[in-house]
Amino acid sequence: MTHAEDLQKAAQDHLWMHFTRHGSYAGGEVPMIVRGEGAYIYDDHGKRYLDGLAGLFVVQAGHGRSELAEAAAKQAQELAFFPLWSYAHPKAVELAARLAEAAPGDLNRVFFTTGGGEAVETAWKLAKQYFKLTGKPLKHKVISRQIAYHGTPHGALSITGIPPFKQAFEPLVPGSIRVPNTNHYRADEISGIPGMSPEQYGRWAADRVAAAIEMEGPDTVAAVFVEPVQNAGGCFPPPPGYFERLREICDRYDVLLVSDEVICAYGRLGTMFGGQKFGYVPDIITSAKGLTSGYSPLGAMICSDRLFEPFSSGTEMFAHGFTFGGHPVSAAVALANLDLFEREDLLGHVTRNESIFRSTLEKLYDLPIVGDVRGSGYFWGIELVKDKKTKETFSADESERLLRGFLSKALFDAGLYCRADDRGDPVIQLAPPLIAGPKEFDEIESILRGVLTEAWARL
Ligand SMILES: Cc1ncc(COP(=O)(O)O)c(C=O)c1O
Repeated sequence: MTHAEDLQKAAQDHLWMHFTRHGSYAGGEVPMIVRGEGAYIYDDHGKRYLDGLAGLFVVQAGHGRSELAEAAAKQAQELAFFPLWSYAHPKAVELAARLAEAAPGDLNRVFFTTGGGEAVETAWKLAKQYFKLTGKPLKHKVISRQIAYHGTPHGALSITGIPPFKQAFEPLVPGSIRVPNTNHYRADEISGIPGMSPEQYGRWAADRVAAAIEMEGPDTVAAVFVEPVQNAGGCFPPPPGYFERLREICDRYDVLLVSDEVICAYGRLGTMFGGQKFGYVPDIITSAKGLTSGYSPLGAMICSDRLFEPFSSGTEMFAHGFTFGGHPVSAAVALANLDLFEREDLLGHVTRNESIFRSTLEKLYDLPIVGDVRGSGYFWGIELVKDKKTKETFSADESERLLRGFLSKALFDAGLYCRADDRGDPVIQLAPPLIAGPKEFDEIESILRGVLTEAWARL
């Protein structure tokens, strides 16, 4: 057997892939990605694909950046590991200071994790303990939005608003409440109020948070978790005024506003932090993914001075941590990654190119299956519909046949790695590395055009 055949067999026999129906590979081949360069990845047959999802919203700086690999190697030689449990090491300290400097408002305190779900978990636990320490011990509940994904640990999964991902693991952590999301394309259905303007819908959606807080009792609600642009469901940007209103509501009820920026931070929207794109200052930012461009795992929860204050003196402690949180190698890579961001002006590059990305994708509106193109920065979703005029979506069976049975594989076969997703209505999601530009946008559009045309013909 060749090495490639050995690997295939071992993948089939031993590897447990994440969120994967293993049955769909039985008797077939597991796609094996062996290397990357710039905005492209290559499989074990040498075939090239455009990485339309930056791995998983991660590889901001692109693949094959030797300076990030070198930063990792240098740090591993100097100090491969030390925990942040009562000790510090220079790279974690430097990175914490750099993130505090870049973060909005007085978000000056950084708690490192190894990934996004852990950062979300950390934020909820901090919110609970903070209110216990400051005389509001009943405040413990959290509010989040329908179809939002916030991770898989029990706490983060409880905050997640996608019932099919939760059912197998019930009972989850109590005290987590859902409100409507900001899908303006389907605002009529969601709100039951026809014809709202984006501004009216933004206000309506934000006010649902106030209603939920009132319903639960303000003295029991600790935090609201929202993404700047909601990922699951297909890139819902906030309608105008949404975050301004949400900030007011959180202040009125003393509820912490947690901006879950696991995808939206570190340039994905053209700003260092996602909330900066929409002009709001949260109490906590949760982040991960693009912080290291994926060259080593790292997450960060960044909170305001106020939230650290009860822990800053005396004997109080946040009894929470992860062995690998703030790993020296990951922290060194993150610093090199942020240097690269500055040197190559990646934020400026995204900002200058986002309208070209949008208009390139909007060319697809001439296809009958394309209902909505939405997003921000380098983070876009294309909602597929059965009837453009009525916005009728596909039945569960059609969606299964269309997305899982055809689209995902057809796009990949055509040379585009991206995501066809039905956690809400069927969408195709695009989030290429931030080094991509008009040439890659055209390639994305051309592949999508071919495959979506065929999908329509098959329906
Ligand atoms: C908004 C958001 N929060 C949390 C997570 C979980 O992050 P991780 O997979 O690193 O645990 C994700 C992952 O995609 C995410 O998009």
